[in-house]
Amino acid sequence: MKQQLSVEHLLGIKYLNKNDIDLIFETANNFKEVINRPIKKVPSLRDITIANLFFENSTRTKLSFELAEKRLSADVINFSASQSSVKKGETLIDTVNNILAMKVDIVVMRHPNVGAGVFLSKHVDAKIINAGDGTHEHPTQALLDSYSIKEKLGTVKGKKVVIVGDILHSRVALSNIFALKLQGAEVKVCGPTTLIPKHIRSLGVEVETNIKKALEWCDVANVLRVQHERMDIKYFPSTREYTQLFGINKEILDNLGKKIVIMHPGPINRGVEITSDVADADQSIILNQVENGVAVRMAVIYLLAQQIKR
Ligand code: CP
Repeated sequence: MKQQLSVEHLLGIKYLNKNDIDLIFETANNFKEVINRPIKKVPSLRDITIANLFFENSTRTKLSFELAEKRLSADVINFSASQSSVKKGETLIDTVNNILAMKVDIVVMRHPNVGAGVFLSKHVDAKIINAGDGTHEHPTQALLDSYSIKEKLGTVKGKKVVIVGDILHSRVALSNIFALKLQGAEVKVCGPTTLIPKHIRSLGVEVETNIKKALEWCDVANVLRVQHERMDIKYFPSTREYTQLFGINKEILDNLGKKIVIMHPGPINRGVEITSDVADADQSIILNQVENGVAVRMAVIYLLAQQIKR
């Protein structure tokens, strides 16, 4: 029997099980081979139309989804809220139903509101992929992060991963915690106490506020940007102090006595959470994450498309 995902949409890692992640990674392995061929395309989704709806800014996720869809030979339409009739007051449901009237099968959506993807999945007749909903989840980012750890270290199970920075506002952190725990990794978070959610330990995660101790403990550090755009109050005195206490630089890494893997989902604020020599070091897999994003998103789209009656 053909293997299938246990979910009808990809709304968050919290809805997946370990078999789903294994299936996505096995499928992504095949697509990674495809995108490294001279002809980087397969005809698998020639009969599928996908709409990319971005109500928030994006570079990596938007381009990565579009490329993944084109590599699968799907028809692709792109929607950016800032240039749309949303500006004239059109609702989310009206916007999406109008797009679906053009016979769209799959909707990829980034939205500033938590739960926007779940809401949409209950009201429209299409497969929904969450490309980031507010401070909640960013499931394909977490999948490509775990895939990249597995590629670099051979396995995620048993690895020690610290997520550093603005955990409170980060959908990348929450999705990573769900994905890493599901695969048997040990997870710590490190950052200013004001940027660590109070409930975080209930997810099976430990808290460390000393960056040097966190880095000494881990195999992998996933470094996050401080999301000033989501802050309505001051969470720490100054960016300079944040960098002194939580910024990762070459000197700290060189004094560890071991070589840890450095990750970052982007966009990077060079010189704030991470220095350029660390972001560009050979122990950094930041651009591998971006490359793997295309293969992982191809896998997610391909597997969900298998459930569509054609
Ligand atoms: N990692 C990530 O979500 O980047 P973008 O905001 O550029 O899509």
